Amino acid sequence: MPFPEGFLWGAATSAYQVEGSPLADGAGASIWHDFAHTPGRVANGDTGDVACDHYRRYADDVVLMARLGLSAYRFSIAWGRVLPEGTGKPNPKGLDFYRRLVDALLAQGIEPMATLYHWDLPAALQARGGWLNPDSAGWFADYARTMFDALDDRVPHWLTLNEPWVVTVAGHLQGEHAPGHRSLYETPRVAHALLRAHAAAVSAYRTVGRHRIGLAVNLEPQHPASGDAKDLAAAARRHAFINRWYLDPLFHGAYPPELEDIFGADWPGYTAADLAGLPGTVDFLGVNYYSRGVVRDDPADWPVRAARVRQDDRPHTAMDWEIYPAGLAEILLWIKGRYGNPPVFITENGAAFDDLPPENGELQDAQRVDYLRRHLLAARHALDQGVDLRGYFAWSLFDNFEWAYGYTKRFGLVHVDFATQRRTPKQSARFYRGVIHARGDNPDSGE
Ligand code: FCB
Repeated sequence: MPFPEGFLWGAATSAYQVEGSPLADGAGASIWHDFAHTPGRVANGDTGDVACDHYRRYADDVVLMARLGLSAYRFSIAWGRVLPEGTGKPNPKGLDFYRRLVDALLAQGIEPMATLYHWDLPAALQARGGWLNPDSAGWFADYARTMFDALDDRVPHWLTLNEPWVVTVAGHLQGEHAPGHRSLYETPRVAHALLRAHAAAVSAYRTVGRHRIGLAVNLEPQHPASGDAKDLAAAARRHAFINRWYLDPLFHGAYPPELEDIFGADWPGYTAADLAGLPGTVDFLGVNYYSRGVVRDDPADWPVRAARVRQDDRPHTAMDWEIYPAGLAEILLWIKGRYGNPPVFITENGAAFDDLPPENGELQDAQRVDYLRRHLLAARHALDQGVDLRGYFAWSLFDNFEWAYGYTKRFGLVHVDFATQRRTPKQSARFYRGVIHARGDNPDSGE
């Protein structure tokens, strides 16, 4: 059975990870620019200064996407290109880049999906307190409206935020991502600010936009490491922390009570009034899926007290993430049951593997082919169970700047030689083209 007519077959990237030229044409620096230029923050001192040089090579890259057979492309907009100071007057050259990109995509029959915030807050706004500034929702809504005005006639799907959980936890709790803070106090407050910013952007969209808007969350099922009641409780806690933190407020207007237990005295004690205005702000949900967690109770794990247990007998990617395709169907069915079956796109799914030497002129990434095949079968299974799944985006189109890992982790369907910027589609790109061509009919034999 082929996937439904109109199902989107895409690949995804984000601005700081692929564009390069972060300060070109009057763009303002982002927190990731500053972070990557701070010694010790990113592996090998890597930065996004050049990345895939997509800012200059976008036209050729779009031709490549067409050759791969993509029907959709998910990219993100660098806020600081459009508003160098984060607020104020738009920079026409920054806006123009995204206009040209969208036009090039449409000329090739590729549908654009735009993310407004994939982690690169303008540094000028961080200097004013970042998301914790009470004005942050307004800043974001103004920026969002600028983009809607410029592109909504040509962009049918918008995402406000990419993975707010990662922004919060990696950026403000663990300090591994920009802005590199480690604060239990800040974390739930940044989360709340992000939700308010999302709602403010959606409310701007409701007045000027004509299509659909949602956000992308990272989700992973949490399974207890044993039948012990403590481990069951730990898995439930981590499930609330990762999967329900943002979705419960957005769909049910309430934070999971587990968060109060996790944050203790640092939990701000939000009331129903603080969450009013959130339900109804998601036309569709983007789901980024990579792996699952198997967890045990561990008082030393800060602050969730639920430690991950590596499944040594199972296959893992180069990120050391367990390959667990069944979890994709599981999480999609969980969304359907808990949140009323909203339209869903898998906005990211993929794997990093180390390069193997080419054979017959092609980079053989059989492990990635296998990863994609199994996850597409899981997606198919979810569709068959009634999940309203509308599209699938592989992460990533290119090998790119993998945040704190720099260029050491390769997620691309297309290999990038960072010394020459040469792009070489891998075996997985050929596999994916076959899948798209057959509309996903039997991804088992899509090669
Ligand atoms: C996700 C991010 C994306 C990429 C993948 C591997 O968390 O959204 O930018 O880094 O992980």
